[in-house]
Amino acid sequence: MQLRTLLAALEEPPVAFYNATELSEHSEINALAYDSRKVMPGGLFIAVPGSHTDGRRYLADVAQHGAVVALGPQIETSDPPLPYIEVGDVRRALANLACAFYGYPANQLCTIGVTGTDGKTTTCNLISTLLEVAGKQSSLMTTANFKMCGQEWENTTRQSTLEALEIQQFLRRVVDAGVTHAVIEATSHGLELQRTRGCDFDIGVVTNITHEHLDFHETIEKYRRAKARLFEMLDPARDKGLGIQPIAILNRDDGSYEVLKPYCKVPILDYGIDQAAAVRAVNVRLDAYSTRFRTILPGAEIDIETQLVGHFNVSNCLAAIATVYSMGVKAPDIAHGLAGVTGVSGRMERIDEGQPFTVIVDYAHTPDSLEKVLNMLRSLTAGKLMVVFGSAGERDIQKRPIMGQIAAQKSDFFVITDEDPREEDRGQILHAIARGAQSAGKYEGRDFLCIADRTQAIATAFAHARAGDTVLLAGKGHEQSIIVGREKIPWDDRRVAREQLRLLF
Ligand SMILES: Nc1ncnc2c1ncn2[C@@H]1O[C@H](COP(=O)(O)OP(=O)(O)OP(=O)(O)O)[C@@H](O)[C@H]1O
Ligand SMILES: [Mg+2]
Repeated sequence: MQLRTLLAALEEPPVAFYNATELSEHSEINALAYDSRKVMPGGLFIAVPGSHTDGRRYLADVAQHGAVVALGPQIETSDPPLPYIEVGDVRRALANLACAFYGYPANQLCTIGVTGTDGKTTTCNLISTLLEVAGKQSSLMTTANFKMCGQEWENTTRQSTLEALEIQQFLRRVVDAGVTHAVIEATSHGLELQRTRGCDFDIGVVTNITHEHLDFHETIEKYRRAKARLFEMLDPARDKGLGIQPIAILNRDDGSYEVLKPYCKVPILDYGIDQAAAVRAVNVRLDAYSTRFRTILPGAEIDIETQLVGHFNVSNCLAAIATVYSMGVKAPDIAHGLAGVTGVSGRMERIDEGQPFTVIVDYAHTPDSLEKVLNMLRSLTAGKLMVVFGSAGERDIQKRPIMGQIAAQKSDFFVITDEDPREEDRGQILHAIARGAQSAGKYEGRDFLCIADRTQAIATAFAHARAGDTVLLAGKGHEQSIIVGREKIPWDDRRVAREQLRLLF
């Protein structure tokens, strides 16, 4: 693609050009990269300032690897090692260039964005499954998995919403494969960093908005606004010629409803269990292995039975039902689709090695989700309820004591352990969680333990468990690594749980 075509896609003209006399507007660009290690000869490098490093540090490197030109924010030198284009908003430029380079694939797809604090991955998977059951081609990008043309693979990037470059590349593959729908998990982080710019969402879905990522967004207000971006992006005049009516799917039971409503310029379809809503669940029956409820929709009623357990999963199901119903999926397909769902990897996954107690691996890593999961497991547990959990390093610091408080209030015994300490002092993270537990009247050594090594923590919880008890391993879910320092060490809570159970039984 000619550099000229790419530059024409920028929403704002470049601020300045450096050492660009050699550069012709007709220069051919054959690849884009924002990671200096992925630059190829003939490529354009986008220098993005990140939290760990700054792309501008690698200009000499990328020049050596054959990059034709770099683009990024202001630089300190007027003599960079390769032609440099200065732009005002580099993240916006990254998205603009990615869209142009891959030929605006979102224009040819029905795109569905799902945001919220908890339940995004689950809801994305449900929407995608229901579309497929109804005979539509669906692709999927979430924290846990990717899907395209009936193929599914794990997301090992440890990023829920990828950078705009990968999103647009993925959407291009989706279009080329003849797939018509894309379901995209849109985290507040991803929305704020403009990763989803150019996804031209037709449908926006929210699960709920509670406490999370406050380190990044600073205040809950800012966080809410970040989530609102998805709904601001919905355009009532958008017509891709696919027969899709733009719509916002909001949760009546959640405080986010009132917050997001003013941002919606498109029609709203709301769902709820506790509050009256257009899509409403009634007669909810929650069991240990299944959930049943009746959904009342405009013009239809559907009896749902699913293996997804817990009150919050009724909410996730409703979000998915409302979404696909608005797209014309019929009631019998919805019932059939949800009956076939066995669960989402690492979410409420049971580990059974014949032990006399229940072991559940779940991805709950926010105060709200931990509380909801413990509440649910309490109602299903005859004996004691135990939890092994931690809190990630270099992420939301404020939630640590709150997580400790919740474990103190909602479980009978718990082990505080590593999640992903990253470059933080792991002992201090554990200590911060423990402080919350102590403020709720618990004593270390009697009511809870702090064991940084996650394998040891799990083994210790199992050693305490008796028949009828439940041990919840929270926070890692499907993840395949634990990040210590800057190293990703292979990890899987489910594998470790199985190994430790086999040692005991
Ligand atoms: N609607 C919900 N409300 C509260 N908690 C939920 C809800 N749905 C799922 N959970 C809990 O949150 C955990 C994570 O679920 P899921 O992966 O679907 O959420 P997510 O929003 O994608 O999370 P992340 O932001 O980490 O990607 C689940 O394992 C479950 O414990
Ligand atoms: Mg997710």
